Amino acid sequence: MYAAVLELLTRLGDLAVVVWRPRLVAPYLGLWLREVLVSPYRVRRSFELTRLLHASGQTFNELMYGETPLHTAVWLFRKAGLDGGGRLVDLGAGRGRTLLAARWLGAQALGVELLQAHVALAAGPLKRAGAELVQGDAAHADLQDATHVFTNWTALTPETRARLIERFRTCRPGTRILTVTRPVEAPGFTVLSRHWLLFTWGIEQVWVQEYRG
Ligand SMILES: C[S@@+](CC[C@H](N)C(=O)[O-])C[C@H]1O[C@@H](n2cnc3c(N)ncnc32)[C@H](O)[C@@H]1O
Repeated sequence: MYAAVLELLTRLGDLAVVVWRPRLVAPYLGLWLREVLVSPYRVRRSFELTRLLHASGQTFNELMYGETPLHTAVWLFRKAGLDGGGRLVDLGAGRGRTLLAARWLGAQALGVELLQAHVALAAGPLKRAGAELVQGDAAHADLQDATHVFTNWTALTPETRARLIERFRTCRPGTRILTVTRPVEAPGFTVLSRHWLLFTWGIEQVWVQEYRG
């Protein structure tokens, strides 16, 4: 019941936002339809998945799914200063809903997702929105051109988060790092703001930080 109400609320919020960018409506509905047909919340264990997790040093639980609604991401990214001159990279992008939010603001958008199943389903609609979703380990993502890096790292272990923090250090100084549930707890990152926002599983904290180098 709680999940159904949240789904309704977040979808209504998204629709109210996406209609202001008519060319994003079809990609948004395309992602939604795929989610209805093939749930991202049930990941199938396979030999390939075991190999991937072994390579990235992660556990199955770290693949726990949850999304950032479009309206939440638009509000957050704008608050973090993302605009038409920016480039957002989502590390652990899932089906790429956040990438539509970056496009809504006119920014370039790249998502890096470990699971090929998500990429295969979502890359087409995202491409039509001008966003790119690629398969890969976020800990090896190219962040050189990013102005904003977003990661919904709620389910990641401290070890995996530490690997991502090392990757954040390859960003240019001044890059904004946006993290869900926990801040970046390491030298060189300054908290600019903190927000309570709505996600598909409930209310969660988000930190906007700047990498100072
Ligand atoms: C909680 S979901 C967030 C999806 C999306 N960022 C959003 O907020 O709507 C986290 C995603 O990270 C992916 N993931 C976990 N470890 C990863 C890694 N090492 N590299 C890339 N993606 C990873 C999972 O498969 C999952 O799809």
